[in-house]
Amino acid sequence: MTMDLKGKKIVLGLSGGVACYKAAELCRALVKEGASVQVVMTEAATHFIGTVTMQALSGNPVHTDQWDARIANNMAHIDLTRGADAVLIAPCSADFIRKLAHGACDDLLSTMCLARPRQLPLHIAPAMNVEMWDNAATRRNVAQLRADGVCVFGPAAGEQACGETGFGRMLEADELLEELIASFQPKVLAGKRVLITAGPTFEAIDPVRGITNLSSGKMGYAVARAAREAGADVVLVSGPTALATPHGVRRENVQSARQMHDAVMAAVNGQHVFIGVAAVADWRVTNASEQKMKKQDGGATPQLEFAQNADILASVAATTSVSGWPYCVGFAAESENLLEFGAIKREKKGIPLLVGNIGPQTFGQDDNTVILFDEDGHTVLPRADKLTLARQLISEIAKRIEQRSLLT
Ligand code: C5P
Repeated sequence: MTMDLKGKKIVLGLSGGVACYKAAELCRALVKEGASVQVVMTEAATHFIGTVTMQALSGNPVHTDQWDARIANNMAHIDLTRGADAVLIAPCSADFIRKLAHGACDDLLSTMCLARPRQLPLHIAPAMNVEMWDNAATRRNVAQLRADGVCVFGPAAGEQACGETGFGRMLEADELLEELIASFQPKVLAGKRVLITAGPTFEAIDPVRGITNLSSGKMGYAVARAAREAGADVVLVSGPTALATPHGVRRENVQSARQMHDAVMAAVNGQHVFIGVAAVADWRVTNASEQKMKKQDGGATPQLEFAQNADILASVAATTSVSGWPYCVGFAAESENLLEFGAIKREKKGIPLLVGNIGPQTFGQDDNTVILFDEDGHTVLPRADKLTLARQLISEIAKRIEQRSLLT
């Protein structure tokens, strides 16, 4: 937990839908991230989940009724959003979308949304049957909400509670949490395309064995998430890891350094930024066996032969156009003399920015200290969790590409 919502007041609205069960989990996740959560439910939502559950999870009394005697001035629809940082309606039913699109105010939740301060962000997480989502009326209403500045999280495609399959499933609680956290991040890479490599590579020796390294992929995945939070369109080329793909990031899985090289070169055209975070194997086995190697009687050991892999980062840097795209960023783990080696490595790779860390003890850890090397020297980003560092890195990259664009 990074407590990304510490100090934030979130109004969580529930309208009627079976996805209300996911809202319970979401409420708990919001509280764990440090948010104070005020739950408001429509009457229909109370048929799907009890107010007692939502009260217990949020730690605050739940509001369902315009005529609630607990509010002395009877103005719950005004008071509930004052001082709030965001309103999130999850689940947001087709009917509630209709109400929002038409400015209806015939129950507490819709009246509250209409009466919210103009600057207060309203996000919705649609949840409905695939035909309802595809219906022209719903499409019109959703388009209207988008035009009104409402953010639409999802919906996802897949199997639905009704037994049908398609778009209309509400996003999962962890995805909604990521979306909400992202909504508070500055959009410094809006409209930019970013290609990232992450994780280790795996060089086969035979069909069941191979050579890999201790990279967990955590830093690369954090960078992918931070870039997406900053508004970029992100492609993540990943070696084998056990990590979940950050929400909204397109991920391509590869195993070997050669596959990673090919996937990157196939995707690099049109990218604004390339960030090589992967720990790519320097060598591959050239005499890998097609069958599983058998232990030899007498103890003879396999004799492996190696060839050097192409440097992906250097290959991408060599494609940089006159306009400076893609802006290339490398990572380097050094075991000593980071200051000296970092600066030399940046020049050798022919890239404008290199992120150095003292490895290999950073592998698999949740936090790190890094040093940024560029043509002006170096800057230390003090020890922090990897997502915080990734956000700082993205902001540093955005500053540098903005300067570049101004110069050209
Ligand atoms: O030279 P070294 O392996 O220390 O450089 C690390 C940087 O180069 C990282 O950004 C890594 O992703 C990238 N790299 C690469 N292809 C290789 C080796 C390293 O892109 N074959």
